[in-house]
Amino acid sequence: MEVSHIKQEINMTEALMQRINELLSHYPADKKKSALLPVLHDVQDAHDNWLSIELMDKVAEILEIKPIEVYEVVSFYTMFNRRPIGKFMFEFCQTSSCCLRGAENLIDYTCDKLGVKLGETSADGMFEVKAVECLGACGYAPMLQLGDFYKENLTKEKIDQLIEDCKEGKISLH
Ligand code: FES
Repeated sequence: MEVSHIKQEINMTEALMQRINELLSHYPADKKKSALLPVLHDVQDAHDNWLSIELMDKVAEILEIKPIEVYEVVSFYTMFNRRPIGKFMFEFCQTSSCCLRGAENLIDYTCDKLGVKLGETSADGMFEVKAVECLGACGYAPMLQLGDFYKENLTKEKIDQLIEDCKEGKISLH
């Protein structure tokens, strides 16, 4: 599993622990692992959108499971990040419907415009472009996910506008 060796400050705040305990209350005490996905989402959101080994170990400790059980899940799903990422992560769907509607061209266009390669963070730490599998919005292809939101029926003009809006602080991620 590829991981970052950058030190991450772990801050399991009272509010975060309350949220985790609320999630755990939905499952039997001996089945805490069932809450792993929502717990990881909340923990990642509270830690600059990435999960270090130390943080994954902390989640394992809280859920009383083995660290490897957390690593397996984090490395399987593209929505979890194992290294610090750009503030604005453009997650382009690269599956069939989106590809047929020009996703690959748009990915190349966006990378060129931002001066990054796929999977790289821009020098200013603002942007990152990632290719992911179907996000379930095939009828609105090509599309991408930015934070909690979908941007659909994309064109180069819409990408230009999106980048401008990010730079001007007009984009909400949650
Ligand atoms: Fe792109 Fe499904 S193929 S959202």
